[in-house]
Amino acid sequence: MHKFLLGAGLSASQVEGFNSANDYGAAETIGRLPQSGKGTDFYHRYSEDFSLAKDIGLNAIRISIEWSRIEPREGVYNREATEQYRRMLQDMKAKGLQRVVTLHHYTLPVWIAERGGFATSVGVKPFVLFAQYIAEQLGNDIDLWLTINEPEVYLIEGYIKGTRPPFKKNILTFLRTGFNLLRAHNRAFREIKRVIPQAHIGLVKNCVYYMPNNRNHLADRMLVWAANFFGNHLMMRIVRKHSDFIGLNYYFSSRVAFSWRHGFREVNRDLHLSDMGYRTWPEGLYWMLKDLARYKLPIYITENGIANATSDMQFRFISEHISWATKALHEGVDVRGYFYWSLTDTYEFQSGYDLYFGLIEIDRNTLARHVREGAKVFKTISVNE
Ligand code: BGC
Repeated sequence: MHKFLLGAGLSASQVEGFNSANDYGAAETIGRLPQSGKGTDFYHRYSEDFSLAKDIGLNAIRISIEWSRIEPREGVYNREATEQYRRMLQDMKAKGLQRVVTLHHYTLPVWIAERGGFATSVGVKPFVLFAQYIAEQLGNDIDLWLTINEPEVYLIEGYIKGTRPPFKKNILTFLRTGFNLLRAHNRAFREIKRVIPQAHIGLVKNCVYYMPNNRNHLADRMLVWAANFFGNHLMMRIVRKHSDFIGLNYYFSSRVAFSWRHGFREVNRDLHLSDMGYRTWPEGLYWMLKDLARYKLPIYITENGIANATSDMQFRFISEHISWATKALHEGVDVRGYFYWSLTDTYEFQSGYDLYFGLIEIDRNTLARHVREGAKVFKTISVNE
């Protein structure tokens, strides 16, 4: 049996600080996103965070490598940044933490964003070259590879709602960018395998578990089918052959109803509300895992978390989600790990530092770390030992 990974995640631009060379940093400069400033200074204080992770009882950590630090200008690789990530990865290993690395967690180097990012195929080749560089330079220090984080969230926020870079609202650009992102995943998958044949690589897919408001209404059931197909499965089908596993980000479920007036309506009043406005429902994770089992691939829950300032819901939130995941595992779904989002408090793209997901609280003045009560949950969990 595989050792179950119990971990927590972070992404570079949300914690490292000083996002000067990526498109999100550029958007901050012109006031379109809140300031991320010094982040949590994770770039320098990672070792303290990894030690705390170990103390909490975690055996794995998910980080991301900031492309714009590694390649601030096209084809010019920053050796110092590469070495800093090597130190981070080696520190994780020394502490007995499995190393899970995302290559693209929303941000793009400014030089690619200026040429249109993934909206044209311009972004695809440089991304594959970046993946190749990381495989050659740092590949031996990476245990699990995540190519692209939540392509659908990236696309909806950046190309439909226009709330994040590149702040567009255009359905055709949305479709084209989606297609290119998945191409980028497939090609990066092949490239990493060429360099490291035994690499274990997957895409991170955000899935919402949909259920009909009224099971007896055909229209509600059809809506669920469509939302599930387009929202959860279409991308998985496209990358299926280029996936060693599925990375599942699960935050919430949604009960949907058909109405003549709105078409699609969400009816979730009775579910627990997080500070971010998400309606949480742990059992939905079980049903989502059962549904994804159709791909016959291992599944890592790469994100599941709750914004909860008072931290009173965190312990229960985590233990209930893990127990539903364990139920799916015991019924034969190949679940290999659970990563809480996030290890420490982080910068949130639309709300700055006002949401608190972390197992570890960050004092915004001193950047001192303080483990939250909810983090104690991991010591109470044993999945397959
Ligand atoms: C993203 C994270 C983000 C979290 C909470 C996830 O969809 O991958 O970067 O912090 O949601 O908003």
